[in-house]
Amino acid sequence: MIELLDIIKTRRSIRKFKPDAVPQELIEKVVEAGAYAASGRGNQSPVIIVIENEDLKEEISKLNSEIFGKPDFDTFYKAPVYILVAADASANTCVYDGTLALGNMMLEAHALGLGTCWIHRAKESMEHELYKDLFRSLGIEGEYVGVGHLALGYADCELPKAAPRKENYVYYVK
Ligand SMILES: Cc1cc2nc3c(=O)[nH]c(=O)nc-3n(C[C@H](O)[C@H](O)[C@H](O)COP(=O)(O)O)c2cc1C
Repeated sequence: MIELLDIIKTRRSIRKFKPDAVPQELIEKVVEAGAYAASGRGNQSPVIIVIENEDLKEEISKLNSEIFGKPDFDTFYKAPVYILVAADASANTCVYDGTLALGNMMLEAHALGLGTCWIHRAKESMEHELYKDLFRSLGIEGEYVGVGHLALGYADCELPKAAPRKENYVYYVK
C-alpha cells in the first residue's frame, strides 16, 4: 500500500510535460480530489475549471506571461491540461478554500502518476476580459477571486528531489 505521506513527500512541481493527452477518467479523479477538499463552514466556495481547448490555453498562457513580465516565457510549460481554481469572493475563507482544493489536486495527480505545477497570477488574470468572458460563458455569476492554476500532464523529466525542510519548521508543545 502506498502511504499518503509518501505521496505528499514525493510530489514535486513539474515544469516539463509530455504532449500526451491526459485520459478523461484521470482528470475527473484529480478534480474530484479538489472538490472534496475541506472549506470554511463547508461553503464549497471554489470552482474548478478544466481547460483543454488549445486556443483558450494559448490566450491564458499569453496573459499569464504578460502579467509575469516575461511575454516570451511559457508560464504553463506546455502542459496539455490547465486547471483554474477561483473562489466565491463572498466567502471569507475563499482563498484558503481554493488553495486547499489545489493542494488536494496536486496530491491526487501525483498519486495517479501525473505531474502538476501551481501556476500563479490567477488573481490578476481574473481582472481581464478573457477570464470574465470565460466565467460568463460557463454561466458562473457573482464575484470570484482567482486563486491559482495547475499545469497538469505527464512529466517529461525525472522527479525532482524535495528541498530539505528548514530547521524549526515544527514545534511541539506538550
Ligand atoms: C502559491 C504558489 C505559487 C506558485 N507559483 C508558481 C508559478 O507561477 N510558477 C511555477 O513554476 N511554480 C510556482 N509554484 C511552485 C513552487 O515554485 C514550488 O512549489 C516550490 O518551488 C517547491 O517545489 P515543490 O513543489 O517541488 O516542492 C508556486 C507554488 C505555490 C504554492
